[in-house]
Amino acid sequence: MELVLPDAEIERLLTPWVHEELPPTGDRWREQVRLLDAKAGRQKRKRGWRALLGFRRATTQVRNEYDKTIWPEYDLANRLRPKGDAVPLVWGNRTFLAGDMATKRIHLLALMRVIAALRPRRVLEVGSGVGFNLLALAPRFPEIHFTGLELTAAGVAAARAACAAPLPPALFEFAPEPLTAPDAVRAIEWVEADAAKMPFADASFDLVFTALALEQVESIRARALAEVARVSSGHVAMVEPFRDWNADGARRALIVGKEYFAASIADLAAYGMEPELVIANMPTKLAMGVGLVLARVKR
Ligand SMILES: C[S@@+](CC[C@H](N)C(=O)[O-])C[C@H]1O[C@@H](n2cnc3c(N)ncnc32)[C@H](O)[C@@H]1O
Repeated sequence: MELVLPDAEIERLLTPWVHEELPPTGDRWREQVRLLDAKAGRQKRKRGWRALLGFRRATTQVRNEYDKTIWPEYDLANRLRPKGDAVPLVWGNRTFLAGDMATKRIHLLALMRVIAALRPRRVLEVGSGVGFNLLALAPRFPEIHFTGLELTAAGVAAARAACAAPLPPALFEFAPEPLTAPDAVRAIEWVEADAAKMPFADASFDLVFTALALEQVESIRARALAEVARVSSGHVAMVEPFRDWNADGARRALIVGKEYFAASIADLAAYGMEPELVIANMPTKLAMGVGLVLARVKR
């Protein structure tokens, strides 16, 4: 499939979120790189001890982290402020301090373009969290039936509550394309379940997608990817930190240290998926390279 995210569109979405563009060779950017290296070193040492003691970041731990801490504290409207917390961000050879949700705008743009090109009727997001992506996608594509599968009760409850209330005005600003049918969120189906064992029949969805969710399922990677392929009738889109973008240095140390997704695009073949499209020109956090891979399920 031919699909390009034009740089001009990325720039349009990124600019309001940029606090400062820093020269990559300047002292202030170098300081950001130094801080990240130090953090990566700490993660690596911690991981070393955990590995030595036989610990793994299992699904129960992920569920606890999201159910008890991350999602109960999550304030969507506050996160949508462009000049909220700034993080170091890289786009090609340009470097920035930017609001930490800036990258999610571009992820949504990529997902919208993939959906517009494929024209699926049934779409599943695996690891849908508090529903952020589907809250923006359903009003853009009201003709599609969307389902969100999420491990945590807190995530599902927050997503359902968000659908029952008016959408935050900031979401309309944030979305990369106009959200013309806000009421479409009421039709989203939310399912609390584990990606390793999905309560859906084979080929239930025309498109299955993940956004920074495979990231969290490394301990069950093979089972989760087998399930993703099983419930899709054709395509799988993954906005994830594939190893191709995190092969070495601090990024590699952080991924390994956090026990995050460590597969490469080429590894998808082992899970019955054939990559058809890679979008790699998105701005990403200095700490983690993320891109979109669209794969076709091999039958
Ligand atoms: C980083 S969040 C991303 C949420 C959402 N995709 C987004 O882009 O806003 C990762 C999500 O994956 C969920 N998750 C982790 N392991 C899972 C599993 N085994 N099955 C289903 N969801 C899972 C977590 O609970 C969390 O909500």
